[in-house]
Amino acid sequence: MSNPELQHLFDWHLEDDQTWESQLIRARYHYRHPRPVHGPAPLRSLGLLFFNSSLRTRTSMEVAAARLGAQASVIIPGSGVWGMEWRDGVRMDGQSVEHIREAIGVLSRYYDALGVRLFATGTDYAIDQSEARFKKILEAATVPVINLESALYHPCQALADAATIQEHLQDEVKGRRFVLSWTWHPRALAHAVPNSALLMAARLGMQVTVARPKGFELDPEMIRLAESYTSKHGYSLTETEDQDAACEGADIIYAKAWGSQLRYDNPDAEKILRDQYQSWQVQERHMGNAAFMHCLPIRRGVVAEDAVLDSAQAIHLLQSEFRLHAQIAILERAWNLL
Ligand code: CP
Repeated sequence: MSNPELQHLFDWHLEDDQTWESQLIRARYHYRHPRPVHGPAPLRSLGLLFFNSSLRTRTSMEVAAARLGAQASVIIPGSGVWGMEWRDGVRMDGQSVEHIREAIGVLSRYYDALGVRLFATGTDYAIDQSEARFKKILEAATVPVINLESALYHPCQALADAATIQEHLQDEVKGRRFVLSWTWHPRALAHAVPNSALLMAARLGMQVTVARPKGFELDPEMIRLAESYTSKHGYSLTETEDQDAACEGADIIYAKAWGSQLRYDNPDAEKILRDQYQSWQVQERHMGNAAFMHCLPIRRGVVAEDAVLDSAQAIHLLQSEFRLHAQIAILERAWNLL
């Protein structure tokens, strides 16, 4: 069963402006008015299904549920919970004990909402690009599903990032310069965070520049979608291979590492290409008057210099704090608490 209402909490970037803005307002409200425990949802329960590791998303979701008075459980398939089968129509005589259809069907009967973290496979482009595995969860669920980072998007992060930027720039956001700067990383990371950061900044009406080496382009569809937002606000989106020039005069420098498209077909070639760009790091000399953002976790001395992270211009901890406030807003919406 596919429930179109549930798609909203998954493909959140495509939500209408009113929903996006009302969630931003609520996130910032919760920043200013921290909620005591014993909130308006004492009989609600939240199942948090983590197929991948997390510090911020997991803990901020647990605290968000508690702030609303709800109960949250973390479920980690393969770690004290049965390993799961994704494929349909197979005879399950191997390692996987439980099919995702039954698992999500059962959890939907216990919980009033599910949060799911399910990263890109990094090896199967077709599965990742179509969000095929996340869609299986949506099809099997009968309660709202919150995307805690899928192959293509990290919507909770994006909502927190947008609220952080509004707070930091004191609501003078439109037309300000947002630079999404690729950085080197020892691993070929997925595109969910850069996709979401790109769309978030474009939707806020910022002038957006994506600085990345040749070969590390984001998906053309994401660029087109971001351009549709920037052009609505009267701005254009720029892509450049010149990190230094991109950072000049920036208001926000958002650092993020991601892998090349080559990672799917030829991971060895991808690594050789990526390793040519080890100098791509956010350094003190890039900062000017910009604020520094990163979704975390961050590898110090790799993605950014310590001097950047330890400076007053770094707002990455505020950004992480906003994960909590944003997710309270998302749960309020999922449970119609307003
Ligand atoms: N930014 C983020 O999602 O952090 P975690 O991976 O620790 O949840």
